[in-house]
Amino acid sequence: MKPDFSFYNFDVLSSTNDKAREFAKERKANLVVVAKKQEKGRGRFGRKWSSSPGGLYMTIILKEKGLDKAKYLTFIAAVSVAKAIRKIAGLDAKVKWPNDILINHKKVCGILTENVCTNVNYALVGIGLNVNQKKFPRSIMRNSTSIMIESNSNYDIEKIAKTIINEFNRLYDYYNKKNYKKIVDIWKEYSHTLGKMTKAKTLSGNYTGKAVDVDEECNLILKLNDGSIKKIVEADIFVI
Ligand code: BTN
Repeated sequence: MKPDFSFYNFDVLSSTNDKAREFAKERKANLVVVAKKQEKGRGRFGRKWSSSPGGLYMTIILKEKGLDKAKYLTFIAAVSVAKAIRKIAGLDAKVKWPNDILINHKKVCGILTENVCTNVNYALVGIGLNVNQKKFPRSIMRNSTSIMIESNSNYDIEKIAKTIINEFNRLYDYYNKKNYKKIVDIWKEYSHTLGKMTKAKTLSGNYTGKAVDVDEECNLILKLNDGSIKKIVEADIFVI
């Protein structure tokens, strides 16, 4: 059965993922924490996430099936955001491995999934979506965009949040049924990365090749220039 998600709305938080962590420690799940702005929004690899008013900042709290399964939640969230953008703004949003959403090759959304381990494990799926912002800090200006910038219209942030959660709920059914292959297959339909020449910056070095597949464990498969196959588990990806 699909869960009903309850929304908890805040004007300001340090980070919706931090607030979500507090709720998870109280054993609350199927909640969505939303803030109008964040004072310490964060992204992958400890980076700062620009969180001014006009964006959507939210974290979904879920019970987890196992620590290695959270990556499917990231994929579900990415597809849900892309679908919501397409539905509401009619823009061609695509998912970039592993956790970004792009419009016209620029980043409009990032996802940060974290775990809370107690005797029950929880996943915190944090979504930062640029909705009505007109500009960004200089450091991210070149590669960032918002739905507003791409469509020249303002959007109701609450409506977007609800649409994302509806889409998420639909796809979450596959997760509950452990149909992980289906999640990856749907993600591939929205992929920006597959088929492109890509540079992967990993902790063990950089790899350049064609992104030929995403396997059933959500890893990116690169065909390197020497013809060998390289499985990328965690990296920053640059389409070249
Ligand atoms: C990334 O692209 O590096 C991921 C960015 C994730 C940002 C969201 S905003 C809501 C939630 N709270 C945070 O502090 N981070 C995530």
